[in-house]
Amino acid sequence: MDFVPRLLAGSSRHRTVSLLAVAVIASTSLSAGAYAADDALIQKGREIADTVAGVGCKGCHGTYGEGDLGIGPYNRGVSLAKLQAAIGGGVKQMEFLRDELTQDDIKAVAEYYAWLGELQLVKTIIKRGRFIPEQVEIYPGQPIQLVINNTTSAPQNFASKENGIAPFTVPERDAVDLVWKAPEKEGTYEIQCVDCRVKDQKLSIVVSKSAPMHRGQPPAPSEVAAVPAAQEAPVDKATLDHGRELFMTAGDVGCIACHGNYAEGDVGIGPYNRGKDEHAIRLALRSVEAMKFLGKELTETQIKQVAAYYAYLGRLKLIKTHVVKGRFFPNSIDVSPGTSVQLVVVNRDATHIKVEGSGMKIAPYSIGGRGEEDRVWVAPETEGTFELKCTDCEIKQDKLTIRVSKAAK
Ligand code: HEC
Ligand code: HEC
Repeated sequence: MDFVPRLLAGSSRHRTVSLLAVAVIASTSLSAGAYAADDALIQKGREIADTVAGVGCKGCHGTYGEGDLGIGPYNRGVSLAKLQAAIGGGVKQMEFLRDELTQDDIKAVAEYYAWLGELQLVKTIIKRGRFIPEQVEIYPGQPIQLVINNTTSAPQNFASKENGIAPFTVPERDAVDLVWKAPEKEGTYEIQCVDCRVKDQKLSIVVSKSAPMHRGQPPAPSEVAAVPAAQEAPVDKATLDHGRELFMTAGDVGCIACHGNYAEGDVGIGPYNRGKDEHAIRLALRSVEAMKFLGKELTETQIKQVAAYYAYLGRLKLIKTHVVKGRFFPNSIDVSPGTSVQLVVVNRDATHIKVEGSGMKIAPYSIGGRGEEDRVWVAPETEGTFELKCTDCEIKQDKLTIRVSKAAK
């Protein structure tokens, strides 16, 4: 069979476009077995993974099984046996799926995840009219799943001259994933954004033997930096405010475009870098290809401001919880006494929710549909249990339990 399953008729969100480039067809066929999957089965698996029980596996494991939501882990390439164990009662949070899936459904999902495991996931976003990043490196012969996430409010059109990729459109605030096998020959392949606000935008796919080989492994887990309060330096509020603003907007896109809203590295482009110091930032501005355009944007003072904000983030322990259908994932966390916490609640439901801390000195606040909010909270020096409650979740009035305990890491 062809390497690329035809998933064109897939779910309306997150379409897959097959890039049957001339170079691809001409290249050597893939090693035996790996792609001997049945197209229809993979497609069925994908539909289930996107929609099961109204949440989909993707609601917890990420749209591409990449584990970027902080709920379920990286799942690409996971075996049928592991999947059966997880659904069959091994994972408490997945219990509600047991009655939703037949054995055939589970096999289809396994087939889909096995297929994803063979593909290296490469992500790029369109933000403020440009590709971020603008260049990716792929090992020759590597099949990839290239995700283009259009974060702008207008559809964007793409084309590629060199390698016969058919023109395609990514709707506003939507993503398309393209499956493509890099040729065995080194070279640079380009996808142009035809109508991006910034002129001549293109994504360069550099096929080179110096690119890391895909091993089907999840990215290294983010470290969680919690620095003892004693090290807390006095913080100048104005500097921090400027630093935060630059973090969000520098060079039009902000550090957040690549490093995540909390510098936690969950966009899949730049790494976790909370707490990185001024020296590391300067070095990165000079040496990281994707960041070079920022070097020209930031003054000496501004670099210091960003560094102050990074240092501040480094002193806060980041805790993220997601509300899915009124349930908190995770719904229980442990922190040691006196820890300063940046508590992020991500509302993955379409309707707004209201949350309220009990005993936490956090004023009640609302989070819009598919929105997120962070609050800084300093755990008391004494042990105890605190709660953050959803007071108007439609489906379930769940809560996050925060245990302040000396036994916490
Ligand atoms: C409500 C959230 C949620 C949903 C929906 C969900 N999962 Fe999970 N899943 C989890 C969590 C959390 C874990 C990790 C549990 C742990 O590590 O203790 C997990 C673990 C797994 C594992 C075990 C991974 C391993 O390495 O052993 C597999 C496999 C898995 N999920 C597959 C699926 C599939 C397939 C679906 C859809 C049919 C799905 N999950 C839907 C939350 C979810
Ligand atoms: C266009 C994407 C992009 C943007 C925007 C971006 N970065 Fe990066 N950054 C990266 C990538 C990719 C790396 C990792 C490079 C590597 O590991 O080779 C990186 C690395 C870093 C590192 C080094 C991490 C380490 O482990 O030492 C620091 C520090 C850093 N970035 C800070 C920033 C700051 C501060 C901003 C905003 C002013 C920013 N970055 C904006 C993509 C980006």
